[in-house]
Amino acid sequence: MKKILITGGAGFIGSHVVRLFVNKYPNYEIVNMDKLTYAGNLANLKDVENKPNYSFIKGDIVDAAFVNELFSVHKFESVIHLAAESHVDRSISNPLEFVMTNVIGTVNLLNAAKNEWKDNFSAHRFYHVSTDEVYGTLGESGLFTETTAYDPHSPYSASKASSDHFVRAYHDTYGMDAVISNCSNNYGSHHFPEKLIPLSILNIKNNRAIPIYGKGENIRDWLYVEDHARAIDVIFHNAKAGATFNIGGHNEWTNIDLIHLLCKIMDKKLNRAEGESAKLITFVKDRAGHDLRYAIDSSKLQKELGWVPSLQFEEGLEKTVDWYLANEEWLNNVTSGDYQKYYELQYTKR
Ligand code: NAD
Ligand code: TYD
Repeated sequence: MKKILITGGAGFIGSHVVRLFVNKYPNYEIVNMDKLTYAGNLANLKDVENKPNYSFIKGDIVDAAFVNELFSVHKFESVIHLAAESHVDRSISNPLEFVMTNVIGTVNLLNAAKNEWKDNFSAHRFYHVSTDEVYGTLGESGLFTETTAYDPHSPYSASKASSDHFVRAYHDTYGMDAVISNCSNNYGSHHFPEKLIPLSILNIKNNRAIPIYGKGENIRDWLYVEDHARAIDVIFHNAKAGATFNIGGHNEWTNIDLIHLLCKIMDKKLNRAEGESAKLITFVKDRAGHDLRYAIDSSKLQKELGWVPSLQFEEGLEKTVDWYLANEEWLNNVTSGDYQKYYELQYTKR
């Protein structure tokens, strides 16, 4: 059996990747390794936790001794690396945590993989999951392609850019089979409610203010998380060593238009009068260094590997709302304790 390590599998995107691989590839042994930070939640994987080809190991990628031991015991065939600190606002308050996990953690994994695989790199693959935020920001026109120069602005995107450079360096210097994908903003079920869409769903449901940074004019390119997981599957199995692919949905929305659409869906689902939820929209102080626009050109992935997004945004957003409304217990669990403290710090002083 192929043994594949998925790091960060208890998080938002990681849990969708783990679910896809465990169900689709019963002949692969999937090992999910995760530190279970505030963003990691094993409840995300309840439906696969008893499958014979799935196991979980709690661990921290910053701990080099642990990572080396993990690789030497398990003899992984390949790695799909998603573990990261992922929230821009948290990176602004605590950049070092992002350097530790996203840069040092990634280099620890690369070193352990190199030591184990150095005699036969072509039999192993290191797949690094990255973000379009490494490219910086766009003006009103243009799209990020795989050759756009890196120009990160936030501590989060700077740490991801750095980790991408290390992955490429291990390919170019040592000959490791490494692949990188840079994806646009994801949305869908199991998304921690500190990011725009799940936070807004939660607040609308609880009749709390929806905080919109600045004037809500920033643009993001939204992709349904299961489409991202499918893209990772296709790239993992078919990309050439050293390749990079952009992943995106050709689905640009200003934050304010997106929130109006979400409010309309929530009014319908909660049997509120049309326009009721939109009254909660509250403009707050802008994020420092706030990138204006992200938009991805994913034509390379579409042409070379035949991947296309499966869902229209309206349909995906409605499915997402349905999931949050049906999973109150999940929401209550993740928003107790530390979440309250984070919320106070992040929003009450704005
Ligand atoms: P997430 O914050 O929901 O999950 C991250 C996971 O990593 C959590 O389970 C957490 O416990 C784990 N983790 C954190 N630090 C760790 C450590 N030191 N050791 C081991 N595990 C640790 O993030 P996400 O949104 O699922 O993002 C996953 C990956 O995809 C990240 O690398 C992110 O940069 C990238 N990405 C995210 C998006 C997006 O829209 N969310 C878009 C493009 C790329
Ligand atoms: P976010 O979900 O944090 O993703 P990212 O910063 O990685 O793109 O934010 C998406 C957009 O929404 C971004 O332009 C910032 C904005 N935003 C708000 O307006 N209010 C909020 O409370 C949050 C969390 C984000």
